[in-house]
Amino acid sequence: MTRMRRRPALTAAAEIPAPGGAERRLLGWLWRAYLSRERALLAAAMLLMALEGATLGLFAAAMEPLFDRVFVGGEPQAIGLVAVAVAGIFVLRAAASALQRVTLAQATERTAARLQHDLLAHLMRLDGGWHQRHPPGYLIERVQGDVAAVSQSWATVLTGVGRDAVALVSLLAVAVAVDPLWTLVALVGLPLLALPAALAQGFVQRRAAAAREIAARMATRLDEVFHGLAAVKLNGIEGWMTRRYDDLLARRVRAEVRGAAGRAAIPALVDLMTGVGFVAVLLYGGAQIADGSKTVGQFMAFFTAMALAFEPVRRLAGLSGVWSQAAAGVARIRAILEERPRLRPPARPVPPPPGAPEIVLRDVHLQLGGHRVLDGLSLTAPAGRTTALVGPSGAGKSTVFALLGRLLEPDAGEVLVGGVPVSALDPAALRGLFSVVAQDALLFDETIRDNLLLGGPPVEDSRLAAALEASGVAEFLPHLPLGLDTPAGPRGSALSGGQRQRVAIARALLRDAPVLLLDEATSALDPATERRVQGALRALSAGRTAIVIAHRLHTVREADRIVVLDRGRAVETGTHDALIAGGGLYARLHHMAERGTAVPGALVAPD
Ligand SMILES: Nc1ncnc2c1ncn2[C@@H]1O[C@H](COP(=O)(O)OP(=O)(O)OP(=O)(O)O)[C@@H](O)[C@H]1O
Ligand SMILES: [Mg+2]
Repeated sequence: MTRMRRRPALTAAAEIPAPGGAERRLLGWLWRAYLSRERALLAAAMLLMALEGATLGLFAAAMEPLFDRVFVGGEPQAIGLVAVAVAGIFVLRAAASALQRVTLAQATERTAARLQHDLLAHLMRLDGGWHQRHPPGYLIERVQGDVAAVSQSWATVLTGVGRDAVALVSLLAVAVAVDPLWTLVALVGLPLLALPAALAQGFVQRRAAAAREIAARMATRLDEVFHGLAAVKLNGIEGWMTRRYDDLLARRVRAEVRGAAGRAAIPALVDLMTGVGFVAVLLYGGAQIADGSKTVGQFMAFFTAMALAFEPVRRLAGLSGVWSQAAAGVARIRAILEERPRLRPPARPVPPPPGAPEIVLRDVHLQLGGHRVLDGLSLTAPAGRTTALVGPSGAGKSTVFALLGRLLEPDAGEVLVGGVPVSALDPAALRGLFSVVAQDALLFDETIRDNLLLGGPPVEDSRLAAALEASGVAEFLPHLPLGLDTPAGPRGSALSGGQRQRVAIARALLRDAPVLLLDEATSALDPATERRVQGALRALSAGRTAIVIAHRLHTVREADRIVVLDRGRAVETGTHDALIAGGGLYARLHHMAERGTAVPGALVAPD
């Protein structure tokens, strides 16, 4: 295959890639990791392409008998023969072409799907810090835009190699059979293209990289706009958002147009050089026909071959530009797939502790984005008891949950569950210990039932009904058009904040794990609903280790232990009464809350 591709001098110019080995290594990786799995389909497609390509040579070769025996020689019986041959060539070409396309599409689409599957699976393994640096829009562009661009390009490259190179070889064979010297004259200008083509290719590659980068930033902008549409409208910043987008649009237009100019340069150069060769042969060969050393049929076969070679050569020359563009995408896809998560699962994981474990953080330090988030935090949540984490916004409370689930790794210190460092447990087993209601109570764009089960096995109706009742979901369910089968909308947007929170609580109730982590789990509920749901959560906490984060301090009054966090440290620990008596930060927060609730309390009609 590679021999065929290298042999014609015509493609030599296009074969000098600007950054040389790097591109070939990327193609090699793509082949080994993905394309080679479709070996059989690709081989079939290439065979069909070769057949399609070879028909051009056959057609050019048919010109010689057509002219010499039919038109000039006047042999009437040859007409039928040539006609049947030409018709056969076209039928063969049509069939090979159609089959080749379908086979290739199957191979490339399956490969693209596999690549996208792997990208998603891998992206979900990378840690929070990495995702912070690579926003969702950027990653969506990687998974969709880059894979589409790459898969389109490799289809073009394969077609070039399989069909156009074979066409070219067969056409050159016809040309050489007529006259090797004519062929040489026709091709003499092509080596001159090597340098300009290489320069154009380097240019195209840089523009392609820039265009993909801009596309990723555009996707991030769109993601921001669509997720924050309400905020955009309420703040009246549609104009500002459009200008931010327009900026990128203008830069993308510039990069794409320049890239197109670079890509156009290569076939344009080929055109020029082929034109020169054509004229040279016309002048030289025309004289040979006049003096009788060549027949008209030979001349026609040669020129048909040359004329038909025009398109394959142009496409082959453009191929380096196509590949350059794809290389940028492949490089980015590969970079993501080779990104190693910071979290390393232990080689020999310790089995998770049985029952409700004690949870201990010991002198934990953590920096995020240069910001000291935890500064020597130590705390203990006793086994089977409820521990509350309170403290000012930004104190590091939610960060504790992220550390427990190993969404973040501490810079120093220990995080122990049941006496076992979280890093010694299998991450999935560790996370299986927790029922979490997170601060944002995120739902997925599925029905409420699916949001409760999250792909797990079905639950008995009685258990489901109990969870719906305890979480307060049962209260609003009858008002939804399809009950449990009502779609929750993107990110749960079809439900109110408090409804979302109740679905998240029901989910935690159904999960039935030994540790309960509740981050502001009832903050969006009205006081009456909150009281009821708190009762259910208290019942659930019995016999479990629970850590409860709350700003509304009255909800944690009855916790077995309260830990007060401030600026990444535990500053006080004790029961509600002891902390109030201590007169520290907790007591101050409590008094402030009392004064704060006095006002809305007065507005509630007495019942
Ligand atoms: N990825 C990040 N990069 C930089 N700083 C971060 C990052 N994540 C969190 N922080 C910082 O860590 C600090 C603690 O955040 P955390 O979410 O734990 O606070 P919290 O106590 O839960 O606050 P709240 O009560 O408002 O929910 C905050 O100051 C926040 O700015
Ligand atoms: Mg928080």
